Amino acid sequence: MKITVIGAGAVGATTADNIARKNFAEEVILLDIKEGFAEGKAQDMMQTAALLGFDTKIKGVTNDYLQTAGSSIAVITSGIPRKPGMTREELIGTNANIVKGVVDNLVKYSPDIIIIVVSNPMDTMTYLAYKSSGLPKNRIIGMGGALDSSRFKYQLANKLNASPGDLNAIVIGGHGDTTMIPLINKATWNSIPVKDFLEENEKEEIVQKTMVGGATLTALIGTSAWYAPGAATAAMVESIALNQNKLFTASVYLEGELDESDICIGVPVIINKNGWDKVVPIQLDEEEKAKFKASATAVRAMNAVLTESNII
Ligand code: LAC
Repeated sequence: MKITVIGAGAVGATTADNIARKNFAEEVILLDIKEGFAEGKAQDMMQTAALLGFDTKIKGVTNDYLQTAGSSIAVITSGIPRKPGMTREELIGTNANIVKGVVDNLVKYSPDIIIIVVSNPMDTMTYLAYKSSGLPKNRIIGMGGALDSSRFKYQLANKLNASPGDLNAIVIGGHGDTTMIPLINKATWNSIPVKDFLEENEKEEIVQKTMVGGATLTALIGTSAWYAPGAATAAMVESIALNQNKLFTASVYLEGELDESDICIGVPVIINKNGWDKVVPIQLDEEEKAKFKASATAVRAMNAVLTESNII
């Protein structure tokens, strides 16, 4: 299987690295617009193959989409990352045109491709990819929920002094500091509700820390994070490539699910060889429903910029 990763920056390169280490793909094409950049990163990663024991071939190319032809899956990480103090939403003007051009090129050379969108603002970029690609909705997946849910588990694990892998917890809604919804009342510690172990203020602290997880790292590092985004994206790619039917929350195009339509926003879905296969029905309480509605309203306002700017 051939997989393309667009953008050889920190998130793109880490995604390619994680895919290669898992050793399920024949080839990863890493593409960047900066001359020689992807080639260099790809060579560096290939020089770990003997040490790490993988056979995946990572090939770096400079803006040559012909090399991506016949890819089954593509990951889009292109665009500018946020700097300290910026919201993901402030990136829309620059990133929308970049992502649209990337989608056009990918579909031209791989008409049956499944696209995972990582570029921010992620829900709006996913909506743009769906609208501009002409691909069936199941082939467009926004990576945000997988990352946010992993950050949520990290916060829960810290508070409970638990093993992160023992936590079952999801984040739905938009991938924004104020729009994401960590479902703490549904989270479990190996099937025991976490709320049984936490005071109200502790629950609130975990939810808040999860929501600003990305912004916290941006302030510390000086740019957007990459280890967890890369690992979350690679996990989604693996679930498609190996038809694992894993349940992730992802931003997908809704047509009535959770009472929303004509929007891409984070909901639980099954990820397999078809892309996202179905939205898993989830019962939300009244508070969760209200938060989801508010989140959708915020995402929709961001999407409006695409039409106002004649991008779609
Ligand atoms: C983050 C970026 C990838 O949350 O949106 O770190």
